[in-house]
Amino acid sequence: GPKWDNPLPEDGFFIIAHRGASAYEPENTLPSFELAEKLDADFIELDVHLTKDGELIVMHDDEVDRTTESIGKIKDYTLAELKELTANKDKGKIVAVSGGDEEAYEIPTLSEVFDEMEDDIHYVIELKDTKQYSGIEKKLVELMKDYELIKKDSKGIPKAVIHSFDKKALKEVHKLEPDIPLLQLISFDEDEEAEISKKEMKDILTYASGVGVSYEAITPSFVNEMHGKGLVVHAYTVDDAEAALRLMAMGVNGIHTNEPDLLDE
Ligand code: G3P
Ligand code: CA
Repeated sequence: GPKWDNPLPEDGFFIIAHRGASAYEPENTLPSFELAEKLDADFIELDVHLTKDGELIVMHDDEVDRTTESIGKIKDYTLAELKELTANKDKGKIVAVSGGDEEAYEIPTLSEVFDEMEDDIHYVIELKDTKQYSGIEKKLVELMKDYELIKKDSKGIPKAVIHSFDKKALKEVHKLEPDIPLLQLISFDEDEEAEISKKEMKDILTYASGVGVSYEAITPSFVNEMHGKGLVVHAYTVDDAEAALRLMAMGVNGIHTNEPDLLDE
């Protein structure tokens, strides 16, 4: 499979802002991504879906119920209709912000995010619920091409990677554009130790550069095993500084966190 050539870069441990700096700003909004950038996150993580009229937009859920004042599936809204909705700052894990410009909280399209961010940011893009969005993989790959995101920066770090729990979607992307680094997301129970069967590993190595794993399950031997196969390991979602340091000591390559300033002090 394609390799993230630089699984252990010198400054090696990436802070990946999960849905942006989502502990402080409404998740998956431009202010959340801009704050992540200001807090020096290496990557921002975001989730993409397709509108009724085929636009790539950024939201976690496949419906607007939790994070806006409305209800319904994203696929049943046109982009113009979605733009009329307001992010609900009082629901879910979203932390309310004072003041704030309502406009700034509209649901962003993926190209708006690419337009607004500085050139030195990197992206972890999640493909979700792909079964309901025919052709989403192709649209994403095309947009990444338009924005010249299928390349590495001067330090050898990929500008953008795609991760997903959906193996089929990742394989589809790999077929369309083998140069995009892909990470297979895998969820383990909290009391389980991460492990991947031989058969599964063989398959993962045909398309992925790494794995993204629920952090509680990660052990030093798992990390060593993955590195031995040339795979990077990302841990999600870590908002506990001690756990982050433990993972760093194990050689994990990056953590997804809602608090990009978690390790600042
Ligand atoms: O960080 C991994 C994560 O993005 C997968 O879970 O539900 O937050 O998209 P979720
Ligand atoms: Ca995600």
